[in-house]
Amino acid sequence: MALLEIDKLSAFYGMARSLHDVSLEVEEGAIVGIIGPNGAGKSTLLDSIMGLTEIDGSIRLKGQELSGQSTAAIVENGIGYAPERANLFPFMSVEDNLLVGAYTARTDIETRLATAHDLFPVLKERRNQETATLSGGERQMVSLARALMTDPKLLLVDEPTIGLAPKVCADIAAVLKRLNEELGLTILIAEQNVNFAMTLAQHLFVLETGEIRISGTVETLKDDANVSDAYFGH
Ligand SMILES: Nc1ncnc2c1ncn2[C@@H]1O[C@H](COP(=O)(O)OP(=O)(O)OP(=O)(O)O)[C@@H](O)[C@H]1O
Ligand SMILES: [Mg+2]
Repeated sequence: MALLEIDKLSAFYGMARSLHDVSLEVEEGAIVGIIGPNGAGKSTLLDSIMGLTEIDGSIRLKGQELSGQSTAAIVENGIGYAPERANLFPFMSVEDNLLVGAYTARTDIETRLATAHDLFPVLKERRNQETATLSGGERQMVSLARALMTDPKLLLVDEPTIGLAPKVCADIAAVLKRLNEELGLTILIAEQNVNFAMTLAQHLFVLETGEIRISGTVETLKDDANVSDAYFGH
């Protein structure tokens, strides 16, 4: 059984349907990428997993149905979410933003803070600084660290590289790889930056106007000329 199983998921904003019959699986220990252009439904998909949209279909974590559960319960079940544009509390310190993320923490908060500081040393240096005064890359790190404060099994990350310089993107990629390899975290990442997604993920799903158009391993997609031309710009 895959860690996350999504079956025929449709998501709605009022009358408008933003996802159509999306089915996908994320195996335990994998890094899986969702790629697609603006408005494809990437954020809607991650929001839906967190119980933040109205849906039809099934979303299961370790076989357990998530739809109908509250977002707090979904977090307690072991999913962490670093949403698009971070959504930090700008006039609170780095540390207080992390502590907000630990609200439903299942394990010792001091240990979680230490892990965050180990992964992102800059957040230790800047622990008392308001997040409004951080750089974009540092804010992205707070967002990731906050999502990790509940010690999730599955981490959802929405466009962590948006607007960031290549060097900072590489730093973030390195941390995500480390989380996956050393801490065994399973990661589902939404990205428009196809190259970034390909350097991290083993498996990709291409989402377009709310539907999965193509899916496969990075290896097979790279070799498929049609896919390469349409999505990977080479
Ligand atoms: N809160 C909302 N209310 C109504 N429609 C919404 C809402 N959020 C998203 N949508 C619509 O749902 C569709 C998918 O949007 P979504 O934000 O999931 O795309 P995305 O792939 O994340 O795009 P981007 O790369 O720009 O972040 C779009 O047509 C969008 O206009
Ligand atoms: Mg989005």
